[in-house]
Amino acid sequence: MHRDPPLPLPSLRHFSIPERRAEVARLVGLAPAELEHALRSGGLDESTADAMVENALGTLALPFGVAPGVRVNGKDYLVPMAIEEPSVIAAASNAAKRARKAGGFVAEIDPSIVVAQIEVHDIADPAGALARIEGAAAELVARANEAIGNLVARGGGARRSSVRDLGGGMIVVHVHVDCLDAMGANLVNTVAEAVGARVAELARGTLGLRILSNYCDERVARVRVRLPVEELASARVSGLDAARGIAQASAFAERDVYRAVTHNKGIMNGVDAVVLATGNDWRAVEAGAHAYAAREGSYRPLATWRLSDDEQALEGQLALPLALGIVGGALRAHPGARLALALLRVTSAAELAAVAAATGLATNLSALRALSTEGIQRGHMALHHRATGGPSERGPRTTNGSGACEPPAAGEAKLPR
Ligand code: MEV
Repeated sequence: MHRDPPLPLPSLRHFSIPERRAEVARLVGLAPAELEHALRSGGLDESTADAMVENALGTLALPFGVAPGVRVNGKDYLVPMAIEEPSVIAAASNAAKRARKAGGFVAEIDPSIVVAQIEVHDIADPAGALARIEGAAAELVARANEAIGNLVARGGGARRSSVRDLGGGMIVVHVHVDCLDAMGANLVNTVAEAVGARVAELARGTLGLRILSNYCDERVARVRVRLPVEELASARVSGLDAARGIAQASAFAERDVYRAVTHNKGIMNGVDAVVLATGNDWRAVEAGAHAYAAREGSYRPLATWRLSDDEQALEGQLALPLALGIVGGALRAHPGARLALALLRVTSAAELAAVAAATGLATNLSALRALSTEGIQRGHMALHHRATGGPSERGPRTTNGSGACEPPAAGEAKLPR
């Protein structure tokens, strides 16, 4: 029986891994053995990996952690994050803690619309093709829905179609499909293939590609947060100075593409870690996010920060397309991803998108706060050294985990370092 984590949440930082597992299991009402089992071998056993991809040799693990106490729309989440980079989980937790005191993040999520694209070329009369396709919109939607009956039965399905002339005798038809709690790639590819031949017939041209678009600009997650400036204070910096610095850092990203990319990378640190932990397609999310960042013709920051007119509060907002699923895809096969969803206790893909977006805004906030005050290297490198056994933490780097650097045996291939 899952239950909401009681508040205030304990600090997990000083626990050992088994202690943290026991505590997290207790908080969400799982048996510790369930958690232990799901994370064995990095959350994925070899035979499952073998069934998932071709030519599998094994699995490649990442650290899997949680950011506790991320409050979104009034609900607190233990957010699972899979990431190799030090500081990111701490950054998410730290900003989430500050945001929670101010009521947390507020998120609004679009319906789960993903587009099926059907491209047709060698068209002699594109205007006529567009008119015939527009006239057949209801038929195309009906054909699409016949191909995805299970989704339609659950309340989803094709909602409408649209068509554009791309020039040079080429057109593209979009079928806009509400995928509900699925990421939607398989469903939408099925739709594209189901209606393709009829679209080409209507267009009187040659049928080209039939595939989803990963640019899900109708499936956008919007999240905002408002923090009283005093929540941004540290021992060395006043809240107002920190808030001014964060707003200034936002202005920098809004004016300069070199900075905007790094600013967005700091957002994707949080978003991708949740996307990966929950078994979702992070390449699709990345491709869509950066196209969205450039939607006005120049590449822009996905999140912006402003100091309120009375200088009492810092306001941040983030918008990005997020096609995430809580059913289907790799999720079914991946015990680690299923555990991540169990920790989150989300009941819809929209809720998962809200949490992933809030985590991205949190990591962005922490990065900007650190950068605009004392810089990130001090905290970042301390953690990095802990992970690599660098000078400040554990002495020289070792290669075999036993404290000794063993040379490879004669004739053994060397792996790149
Ligand atoms: C490092 O992974 C992310 C940052 O570079 C983001 C930023 O500069 O805003 C710290």
